[in-house]
Amino acid sequence: MSLTVDFKGKTVVVVGGTSGINRGIAELFARHGARVAVASRKEAKVTDTVAALEGHGAEAMGFVADVRDLDAVEAGLKSVHEAWGDFDVLVSGAAGNFPASLNGMSANAFRSVVEIDLIGTVHVMKASYPYLKKPGASVVNISAPQAFLPMPGQSHVSAAKAGVDMITRTLAIEWGRDGIRVNSVVPGPIGGTEGMARLAPTPDAIEKVAASVPLNRLGTPDDIGHACMYLSSDMGAYVSGAVLPVDGGWAQSGCGGMGAFLGKLVAQLEGR
Ligand code: HXC
Ligand code: NAP
Repeated sequence: MSLTVDFKGKTVVVVGGTSGINRGIAELFARHGARVAVASRKEAKVTDTVAALEGHGAEAMGFVADVRDLDAVEAGLKSVHEAWGDFDVLVSGAAGNFPASLNGMSANAFRSVVEIDLIGTVHVMKASYPYLKKPGASVVNISAPQAFLPMPGQSHVSAAKAGVDMITRTLAIEWGRDGIRVNSVVPGPIGGTEGMARLAPTPDAIEKVAASVPLNRLGTPDDIGHACMYLSSDMGAYVSGAVLPVDGGWAQSGCGGMGAFLGKLVAQLEGR
């Protein structure tokens, strides 16, 4: 059997694909021949990303939707299906995060993150199912180390992303008979992203996080995109239900003391 990472003629949808890691994933697929659709809340980000994808020579489209709004997600995905047919690859990565203790946030603050990360993923999964190629589609959910490692100031993200990974593992079973594979990718600290800016807000903090990674560097969006491409290519044909850290070994070292660092950051932000 010949294996390929050529995505020519494939349809890839990246929800939350208009900045940071997810945009990097979208651009990587575009650079490897796929037609790529992206979605997020802000029209300007969608337009800008579609132009960048076209700049890679790809067919591209986008739609505006808040993943908390099931109707908007359904309408957007339907428009992609009408244009291009069934989806070969779905990446679901819309997320929100801010450092705050449970006592330091309102119930609505906690709910917001859970509704974006977890319920948003449920919306994206449910609305995509009719359009996923059966057999053959690959679904990749973007998780976070907080899913398995508690960190102060991250109860909302931990609860939400642990849920995302359990959805991944459950759907690997429920959708397996359709020939759909479902996996999670768990990025480590990725340089130049909004997530890092929020959790490591100074150059010194970023340097310390980079030094705490066993491979001694921050990750890049391409590092995460390569994992998504592997999982979605013929090379990943027998992989389903995996929760794959792509983090230079960071999780194995307890995320390099990120919990202790965040404990101090949150105490400082909350004046304790
Ligand atoms: C406490 C906060 C807060 C903060 C917002 N809230 N920021 N509470 N501390 N720093 C509260 C608000 O007061 C409000 O509660 C509730 O959260 C919702 O806030 P809104 O601004 O009204 O919500 P919304 O506009 O929907 O924005 C959602 C958001 C926002 C999550 C709050 O930050 C966002 O849109 N983020 C998207 C981008 C992002 O976060 N990217 C990073 C992903 S990185 P009240 O009670 O006042 O109504 C990641 C993992 C990184 O996920 C891992 C790195 C290792
Ligand atoms: P980012 O740039 O803020 O990316 C988040 C994306 O989701 C954006 O395109 C954003 O666009 C969209 N989005 C946010 N809320 C949305 C909503 N309610 N509905 C629809 N779209 C929404 O953040 P990032 O740091 O690159 O993180 C990307 C992913 O990687 C997230 O799933 C995050 O949990 C995960 N992760 C990041 C890191 C890291 O080091 N950065 C580490 C581990 C895991 P709009 O603003 O236009 O909506």
